[in-house]
Amino acid sequence: MPADFEKQSYWHERFVSETSFEWLASSEEFMSIIKPYLPALTHHHDNPPKILQLGSGTSDLQNYFRSTGYLDVTNIDYEPLAIERGRQLEEAVFGDVKMKYVVADTTQLGRGLSHNQSFDMVVDKSTVDAVSCGGQEALLRMASGVRRNLAEGGAWISLSYSSSRFDVDQLPFDVEVIAKIPTPKLKETDPDVYHHCYLLRPK
Ligand SMILES: C[S@@+](CC[C@H](N)C(=O)[O-])C[C@H]1O[C@@H](n2cnc3c(N)ncnc32)[C@H](O)[C@@H]1O
Repeated sequence: MPADFEKQSYWHERFVSETSFEWLASSEEFMSIIKPYLPALTHHHDNPPKILQLGSGTSDLQNYFRSTGYLDVTNIDYEPLAIERGRQLEEAVFGDVKMKYVVADTTQLGRGLSHNQSFDMVVDKSTVDAVSCGGQEALLRMASGVRRNLAEGGAWISLSYSSSRFDVDQLPFDVEVIAKIPTPKLKETDPDVYHHCYLLRPK
């Protein structure tokens, strides 16, 4: 990705005209990877499960959580237009807005993003890639913020185009690749290229 992908101005310009776009994979495909992990991560306590999506952009992933019965979903993005688009995408499908949309920088997540309650599952679809354009320190800041906001037993599921996205020192997570999504080939002889879906559990 060109270096501009970490800049808010880049996303602002895109979202002026872009109302719906899916990076790396459809929400349906990403959800099919996430779904098997949801019960174990979210049903170990009595409270309704809390989910956090980082860098929601103009993706409709949150709608898949709502359709699956998960309503306590907080979507954050540092670009206010993305937050507006997210609400519009929910309203277009359900006729109302029940999930949360918050303007926030994922590299500067304080503790208690959501009234001091932690999240059972944090997800991002290629937001790690955009943030990593700002360097490894930005990625580590993002990782520490996620760590601070994860409930006990919770985990982070991240989809990236990179096979070495989390090969960084001092990452406060154990990392496992849980799925590889093959990318379309132009010619049959083209090499196999995969997007990588990571499960990150606090160390
Ligand atoms: C590659 S796009 C992915 C969007 C969406 N998740 C998808 O799958 O289509 C990256 C998104 O992350 C947002 N983003 C980038 N850096 C961010 C940061 N530091 N804090 C919050 N959002 C950020 C951008 O505004 C953009 O919406």
